[in-house]
Amino acid sequence: MLRSKFLLPLFALLLALNTLGVAAQDPRADAAYKEGEGLFKAQCTSCHAVNKQVVGPALAKVYERRDADWLRSWIKNSQAVIKSGDPYAVELFNKYNKSVMTSFNLSDKQIDNILTYIKVETEVPAAAAPGAAPAAGGAEATGTNSNMTLFLAIILTLLGVVMLVLSRLTGTLSKLVKEKMGQIVPDSIPLGKILSSKKMAALLILSGCIFLGYATVEQAQMLGRQKDYAPTQPIKFSHKIHAGANKIDCQYCHSGASKGKSAVIPGPSLCMNCHKAIKEGPVYGKTEIGKIYAATGWNPDSMKYLNKTKPVEWIRIHNLPDHVYFNHSQHVVAGGVKCQTCHGEIQEMDVVKQNATLGMGWCINCHRETEVQFKVNNFYKDYEILHEKLKSGAISKVTVEDIGGTECQKCHY
Ligand code: HEC
Ligand code: HEC
Ligand code: HEC
Ligand code: HEC
Ligand code: HEC
Ligand code: HEC
Repeated sequence: MLRSKFLLPLFALLLALNTLGVAAQDPRADAAYKEGEGLFKAQCTSCHAVNKQVVGPALAKVYERRDADWLRSWIKNSQAVIKSGDPYAVELFNKYNKSVMTSFNLSDKQIDNILTYIKVETEVPAAAAPGAAPAAGGAEATGTNSNMTLFLAIILTLLGVVMLVLSRLTGTLSKLVKEKMGQIVPDSIPLGKILSSKKMAALLILSGCIFLGYATVEQAQMLGRQKDYAPTQPIKFSHKIHAGANKIDCQYCHSGASKGKSAVIPGPSLCMNCHKAIKEGPVYGKTEIGKIYAATGWNPDSMKYLNKTKPVEWIRIHNLPDHVYFNHSQHVVAGGVKCQTCHGEIQEMDVVKQNATLGMGWCINCHRETEVQFKVNNFYKDYEILHEKLKSGAISKVTVEDIGGTECQKCHY
């Protein structure tokens, strides 16, 4: 009986710890959030993230910088806002080297949902939502999550041990007290018996389940950052058909790769350049191409755009943690590295699969080994000392490491 005094609070504590996670998850279960998330991931992530600058500014707290009306007009047609002479817009446009943000045919409600998503992502730490669906969430905030899991696991184990010790201690104590008062008491129940008691077994199973639950979610989230990750996409788009058999240039679709940081996943309107005419595919007939029509609101019979559009929610495969800076054009243009060196033979894949670990060692090793196109590329004309050494024969080649490619701050914010 005495033991239950300790077991009950332990149960309560465990439950509290568990509901803590569930309660904090709530804003992400909201329908507005979910719609906003879908739209944001399909239409905005090619240029924006909430907490880091990509092609455009980090959108954290943007709802504090501008009011909802301004944001709605901006997202619908940013160029119109800039042309109206709005000083904030003009300054922002100049700051981002006059990069033009795409116009979006979104309703006020859709935009408000995107803002809800941005607000939650700004204000509610991702680590508080260990139950977030890994498929949709990709691999965001894995770092904080793993710390959280470890933290919880340690706390739970410690609590269990403390409770066990305490319960045995009080058992012995009360036995001593009672003996002192002249009562005859049977020997304290041995540890083995406590462990096999029903309550204890239930408790162990419960903590086991909680721990396994966290571990599973954590693993699922890690998947997003792993080599060989190959999720099923919402449209069965095949690189083998497009980049392989039909030899469409990678940068026809991923036009960002030579321009800036992000390679950019193309929107469905780009697919329509060809798929207005190509209505059937060799493997899936009309079903998969039909999804492009659904996304763009195209009616293949009347050959007109109806008004209803629906974003394609591509699942992001490659995903570096937020603290790492990686720039495509630096590698593709300045470095002359081929897409396949990092991404593998994409043109032979029906389903894209992550080819490298994307770990720090992978980046550093290549920087140590790869020679930069020092003599031919104008980009490197400022490195006078290295040029002289090269001329005098003191060194025979210049690697990325020599120009600073293994310095921490080059890759970390
Ligand atoms: C093709 C790239 C691109 C896409 C796609 C894009 N943006 Fe932008 N966005 C920019 C750039 C670049 C800026 C900075 C201003 C400029 O250069 O026009 C910007 C600025 C903004 C701003 C103002 C930020 C501030 O700090 O005041 C908001 C809000 C915004 N974008 C929201 C969105 C939303 C929401 C989406 C998705 C529906 C989206 N953007 C999609 C490129 C993009
Ligand atoms: C016709 C347009 C098109 C062409 C051409 C194309 N891609 Fe893609 N690519 C896409 C689309 C759409 C996706 C998103 C769906 C997917 O992952 O399959 C994508 C995804 C990717 C991804 C994974 C992105 C992520 O989420 O991490 C990589 C890497 C990639 N492409 C590289 C290439 C390379 C390299 C080439 C040239 C050999 C190429 N692509 C040619 C349209 C294209
Ligand atoms: C430059 C032209 C071009 C572009 C752009 C293009 N496609 Fe295609 N697509 C093709 C061709 C060609 C085929 C093959 C048709 C055939 O073999 O009958 C095809 C086939 C397909 C199929 C049918 C697959 C099957 O086996 O049934 C799908 C789905 C598809 N494309 C999706 C997309 C998506 C999504 C985009 C935009 C990201 C896109 N395409 C952009 C040219 C293009
Ligand atoms: C030096 C290695 C390297 C090369 C070369 C490279 N990529 Fe990438 N790519 C990456 C990494 C790393 C990421 C993940 C970036 C992130 O999460 O911020 C990525 C992400 C992507 C994505 C997902 C969207 C994005 O930009 O984050 C696409 C699409 C893509 N690459 C296409 C290409 C294409 C097309 C080429 C060739 C023109 C290319 N890449 C060349 C390493 C490379
Ligand atoms: C296949 C080889 C290769 C891989 C893998 C690679 N890089 Fe690079 N990287 C290069 C080359 C070549 C250059 C030289 C181009 C230049 O000078 O800008 C470069 C340059 C850079 C620079 C600029 C260095 C400077 O001193 O200006 C940064 C930052 C960078 N890489 C980050 C990364 C990150 C982060 C990763 C891993 C996610 C990565 N790279 C993976 C080949 C690679
Ligand atoms: C060439 C690019 C590059 C350079 C240079 C670099 N890092 Fe990293 N670093 C990365 C990448 C990419 C990751 C993400 C690895 C992952 O997600 O597994 C990372 C992750 C980390 C982490 C997080 C631990 C982890 O495994 O996630 C720490 C800490 C770190 N780096 C410290 C440093 C320090 C200190 C230096 C300088 C001595 C440095 N890095 C230089 C690319 C780089």
